[in-house]
Amino acid sequence: MQRIKIHSLLKSGAQNDSVLVKAWVRTKRDAKGFSFIELNDGSCLANLQVLADEHLPNYEEIRKLTTGSAVAVQGRLVPSQGQGQQWELQAAQVTVIGSAPEAYPLQKKRHTDEFLRTIAHLRPRTNKYGAAFRIRSELAFAVHRFFQERGFRYIHTPILTASDCEGAGEMFRVTTLPPGTHKIEEDFFGVEANLTVSGQLEAEMLALALGDVYTFGPTFRAENSNTRRHAAEFWMIEPEMAFCDLQEDMALAEELIHFLTGHVLQHCADDVNLFGRFVDKNLLPQLELLAQAQFSRVPYAEAVEILERSKQPFEYPVTFGIDLQSEHERYLTEQHFKKPVIVYDFPKTIKPFYMRLNDDGKTVASMDVLVAGIGEIIGGSQREERYGVLAERMAQMKLSKEKYWWYLESRQYGSVPHSGFGLGFERLIMMVTGITNIRDVIPFPRTPKSIEF
Ligand code: 4AD
Ligand code: MG
Repeated sequence: MQRIKIHSLLKSGAQNDSVLVKAWVRTKRDAKGFSFIELNDGSCLANLQVLADEHLPNYEEIRKLTTGSAVAVQGRLVPSQGQGQQWELQAAQVTVIGSAPEAYPLQKKRHTDEFLRTIAHLRPRTNKYGAAFRIRSELAFAVHRFFQERGFRYIHTPILTASDCEGAGEMFRVTTLPPGTHKIEEDFFGVEANLTVSGQLEAEMLALALGDVYTFGPTFRAENSNTRRHAAEFWMIEPEMAFCDLQEDMALAEELIHFLTGHVLQHCADDVNLFGRFVDKNLLPQLELLAQAQFSRVPYAEAVEILERSKQPFEYPVTFGIDLQSEHERYLTEQHFKKPVIVYDFPKTIKPFYMRLNDDGKTVASMDVLVAGIGEIIGGSQREERYGVLAERMAQMKLSKEKYWWYLESRQYGSVPHSGFGLGFERLIMMVTGITNIRDVIPFPRTPKSIEF
């Protein structure tokens, strides 16, 4: 007999004389002559209630079932007499697949996020983390749907690379050399290699051939900052569009956030409601806003003025030229505009070499999308397509013309205005769940001094 998942079973909404469910025991209550077992198989938030009565041949074994055990139950799905669930499974046969000891760590009481991080191998079995990882899956699907429906091509950019896209010196080195001093020529690639911090430079080459493309893959940054929104390994979505300027780039970023939030509201209602009830009471109104509201747009210079006028006791003082900190970003979006904001035209001194120089000679055609609770969720720009300007900028920033020869050369062969951005996938999940720590939206997070699982 074929197993049916609890999600499909409850969705079918019909009595069924013979079904087979395989799942883990969440709780069990014993009464005189029968037991109720709550089962969860991870296919949805809801548990399935099983009624097992004393006439079952292995009833003694069933009475000893513990939380965390895996079972197979075959029986009849009937409308439930009790409260709290519509359906219940009357067991004709209960088979124990794998038992769990009384010491199983996930007992009924609610655990702290900090404790659950120490049992990352088990926490997906809780309601909260199960919901988070289902939403993660649904969002990944929605990302592809958004771009595929708009004619973008999904491309794969390298994870091992010799270039440093962001130029922030936050790369993990890749080497096959044993510890000790060796010549770089003896190393696997013969040059310094590292894990990619962004697929953008390569994505640009594909955009200049295929038109509209996007990457969606793992990215690595050795930022030694133990914040709640930075991970050493995270996933990034990077669209890149030929014949596209900063205005169109911002429009796409806004449309993407609208789409992804709307998708989650529509397709993950149960899981999202769990977060609305237990994690962030303001989540649902916030998601409605994110799905529909027109984003505010403000040039960096004006954003700085707003921050200066605010008289807020910021930890990092504000003047033109500073990189916005999370506290500044959150003030702008949460207090001042009260909706998502796109800050654009940042000073060139705080941005990477590839961003297009504006006519003022001081700022670049860049943009950051800021949202409540997180701050920056998207960073993007129009790229410098003018060979001469790019070459000069690289020289100023001491980037090797020899090393990036291929990137420069793309500006000599049919160069066109093009733009793109990067959306941090984990920050997106934080945004739609209200989870405040990036460690809790990644099954096995990597942060400084933490790679146990
Ligand atoms: O602003 P960033 O550094 O932009 C780029 O990497 C560009 N090359 C993107 C592009 O134009 N194609 O990073 C983009 C986004 C950030 O806005 C943030 O959401 C996320 O990536 N991000 C991180 N997420 C988690 N942990 C980290 N350490 C992150 N660093 C960046
Ligand atoms: Mg950025």
